[in-house]
Amino acid sequence: MLEPETERPVVVRTRALTRKFGAFTAVDALDLDVHEGEIFGFLGANGAGKTTTIKILCGLLLPTSGTGTVAGFDVLTRSEDIKRSIGYMSQRFSLYDDLSVRENLEFYAGLYGIGSRRLARRLDELVPRLQLAEHLDKLTASIPMGWKQRVALAAATVHDPAIVFLDEPTGGVDPVSRRAFWGLIDELARSGKTVFVTTHYMDEAEYCHRISVMNAGRIIALGSPADLKAQAGLETIQELFLALVRRDERPGAGPQGGTSR
Ligand SMILES: Nc1ncnc2c1ncn2[C@@H]1O[C@H](COP(=O)(O)OP(=O)(O)OP(=O)(O)O)[C@@H](O)[C@H]1O
Ligand SMILES: [Mg+2]
Repeated sequence: MLEPETERPVVVRTRALTRKFGAFTAVDALDLDVHEGEIFGFLGANGAGKTTTIKILCGLLLPTSGTGTVAGFDVLTRSEDIKRSIGYMSQRFSLYDDLSVRENLEFYAGLYGIGSRRLARRLDELVPRLQLAEHLDKLTASIPMGWKQRVALAAATVHDPAIVFLDEPTGGVDPVSRRAFWGLIDELARSGKTVFVTTHYMDEAEYCHRISVMNAGRIIALGSPADLKAQAGLETIQELFLALVRRDERPGAGPQGGTSR
């Protein structure tokens, strides 16, 4: 049997990671350990600081203070190494509508310096897994949103990275496509990849091995969905999320006010 995810190596680590924009603190002293093969759900209301954190971890934005490593590389100094080790599907993921699906994947492969032979081998794996065959030569603009999401996942993982950051990958997608997409996330994790994913859909949070709930730049809860629900005596992540955020926003709730591990 595989060891629990939390006993596997840490592949994303932050300590007191902080990002300010002027006087405003978007990410406030974040401490996180994410393990290899884990599906780590990053929850939080609009503006909580999720995308800002992901951008720092993807080497796209520098922290103002604190430290972080991704795949063993320091976010302050090794962003190019980080970019080679990770896949990133951004919140407004960028596919070229006027290219075919295949051309989009060729474009991303080019960005990662993947030659045509390696790309052909990779497509032999990705296309059946993501069931993209019938869409491969269609114009990206012409395929439904749920399929675009899959193409975006294929583009983000065309270089077969060990860690994948997915920022609201299922936003605006129908429930059937969302469920299927989570099947793909699960397969990624089972193959040893680490998935760091944000979502506003609380049903999806239940599929994560561990979740963190972020509010106003701080982590206010961290643990497995089952443990967090049991600790709070609540039935669903939806109820838990609302209770945590309300408690954190109560007057007088200090930085330790809502923290639970
Ligand atoms: N470049 C920037 N300059 C100034 N403020 C910023 C900048 N980027 C983000 N912010 C602010 O930081 C806060 C956190 O934003 P962030 O995008 O990380 O939130 P989020 O948790 O991803 O929210 P959402 O769920 O809406 O995607 C917000 O108040 C946002 O307005
Ligand atoms: Mg965001």
